[in-house]
Amino acid sequence: MPLPTDKAPAGPVLDAPHFAEYISALNEHGAGEPAAVDGFVTDAHGVTAHESGQNLDSIETEGEDEHDHDDDSAIGGISRFHSTASVQSSVYEFVEENGRTYHRYKEGKYVMPNDEIEQDRLDMQHQLWLMTLSDKLHLAPIKPNPNHILDIGTGTGIWAIDCATMYPTASVIGSDLSPIQPAFVPPNCQFEVEDVEDEWTYTQGFDFIHGRLLVSCFKDPRAVFAQAFAHLAPGGYFEMQDADFPLRCIDDSMRGTALEQWNGHIVDGAARAGRPWTNTKRYKQWMLELGFVDVHEKLFQWPLNTWPRDPHLKMLGLWFQHDLTEGLNSTKAVLTRGLKWSNEEAEVFLVDVRKDIKNRAVHAYASLHVVYGKKPDVVEMSPPRPSGEGEEEA
Ligand SMILES: C[S@@+](CC[C@H](N)C(=O)[O-])C[C@H]1O[C@@H](n2cnc3c(N)ncnc32)[C@H](O)[C@@H]1O
Repeated sequence: MPLPTDKAPAGPVLDAPHFAEYISALNEHGAGEPAAVDGFVTDAHGVTAHESGQNLDSIETEGEDEHDHDDDSAIGGISRFHSTASVQSSVYEFVEENGRTYHRYKEGKYVMPNDEIEQDRLDMQHQLWLMTLSDKLHLAPIKPNPNHILDIGTGTGIWAIDCATMYPTASVIGSDLSPIQPAFVPPNCQFEVEDVEDEWTYTQGFDFIHGRLLVSCFKDPRAVFAQAFAHLAPGGYFEMQDADFPLRCIDDSMRGTALEQWNGHIVDGAARAGRPWTNTKRYKQWMLELGFVDVHEKLFQWPLNTWPRDPHLKMLGLWFQHDLTEGLNSTKAVLTRGLKWSNEEAEVFLVDVRKDIKNRAVHAYASLHVVYGKKPDVVEMSPPRPSGEGEEEA
């Protein structure tokens, strides 16, 4: 698939000064630092919002020291295995629907396709994330020589493969409903066909658990976070990198567009299907409630297309435009399954949404959240009671 180049489409350069200012101030301060920028206000809860009412959610920073290092590691060979599903050829016989293929294992659970078109899109999104995070795979300050790393909902496995290359001491596992990962991977990387919503059967404590772009996946994401907490080694980190829906806009230029309708339909359809796409903003709170410490949330933005003047944002916008244009068709099942539209109705509707995605007069953007937290080094236990205390009197 051709990837976007740095050639912006011809057309007027529309600037949205508040957005560009806000982003450049974030960059100057480090992405997660609170930024004081004209036109933006921070409320008593630390929620930063544009004065016009544009909510940019909360940003928080805090430091953490270097952690202790374990350097023993168990590295396997090239393998594909799974723990909770039996490897049967049937998991490779994907389900076909309206010209796309979907996962067979736990059929119908996840709404996006798993065919080559979608795999190419996921790999492109990986590049978009790398551009967003200055080539970092994660922001959590994990120890330099981790032993065990887990990537839940790994997709094509591209993050897990890069991670295994980056951390040769680690055994990296990627798990997914779809066996769409390549066969030839670094020796310390392996993949499992697994439903992350099932009870995890891992016996090792992970130093790092990562999940990216999973907002559309789980009925009860908080329960998945709780499993991550339980399966981390003390001092291990959990990091989620996700988009929040609906798309936002810095002004009223999205109003009345098909894109705005799509936004509403997607949120509605996903909620009706029992997997709302609006939970990313709750991740930080959930981590805090579950006992994670050193919890940080960092916000990033992908402009809808090349509408910003800032070159970095323009480049992100160019890639996101391509991503969303490809991804629109992948979201079709939200309309057909969730809202019971016919395939033809969905196709016709999406033609207009595609036009809006290319329209540089629409100043919309996606809000990305990177949230990470640490399992305490020492899990607090209740002190043992002195003998006799609390016993019933005879
Ligand atoms: C949008 S893709 C993201 C893939 C990958 N994390 C990335 O960033 O490239 C979501 C992935 O989660 C997987 N998935 C969805 N529900 C799942 C579940 N319950 N258990 C395991 N994987 C799941 C899908 O099959 C898909 O590959």
